[in-house]
Amino acid sequence: MSDLVSADGFKQALRRWASGVTILTSKANGEIHGMTVSAFASVSASPPLVLVCTNTSSTTHAVIHAGGVFGVNVLASDQAELSSRFAFGDHTTRFEGVGFREGRTGVPFLDGCLAQMECRVRSAHFEGTHSIYIGEVLDVVVRDGEPLLYFDGGYRTLAPKVG
Ligand SMILES: Cc1cc2nc3c(=O)[nH]c(=O)nc-3n(C[C@H](O)[C@H](O)[C@H](O)COP(=O)(O)O)c2cc1C
Repeated sequence: MSDLVSADGFKQALRRWASGVTILTSKANGEIHGMTVSAFASVSASPPLVLVCTNTSSTTHAVIHAGGVFGVNVLASDQAELSSRFAFGDHTTRFEGVGFREGRTGVPFLDGCLAQMECRVRSAHFEGTHSIYIGEVLDVVVRDGEPLLYFDGGYRTLAPKVG
């Protein structure tokens, strides 16, 4: 931690940042894997690029590093349980009983998500405890619906529009 901000102050500031929730998936050496990730953002429209930040200690980080591909599954408002399973559940059984298909690169895409993006790793940047993977989006599938949100350590759903 820098000498300008306390660890608690840093954490408190980030708890005030609302985000969507994704399940980041990958496949390498015939093994599929996935984890919950809120650190997702768009980078560029042309070429179509997105980024995800993964802790280098996570299993998913290693699988993306080995396979060079990842899938982003944007969760719908009724998928909070799936988010908890892919964050806290045994990583060897996360896909058990979960409907999914495999994309053209083999990465899994979970049923019921609002958006699915299939990506090939274009670059990786290591900073602190995390890697930033920049992915080129090869394919997308979308459906209508409401997103799952994460704010102040808990799940939320959209409030009515303002402004
Ligand atoms: C709402 C939520 C968002 C999360 N976002 C991230 C994230 O952006 N990056 C990350 O590395 N871990 C994130 N995590 C933690 C991982 O999902 C968790 O550490 C997971 O168990 C890692 O799995 P693995 O080691 O099997 O890959 C998040 C957890 C939750 C509940």
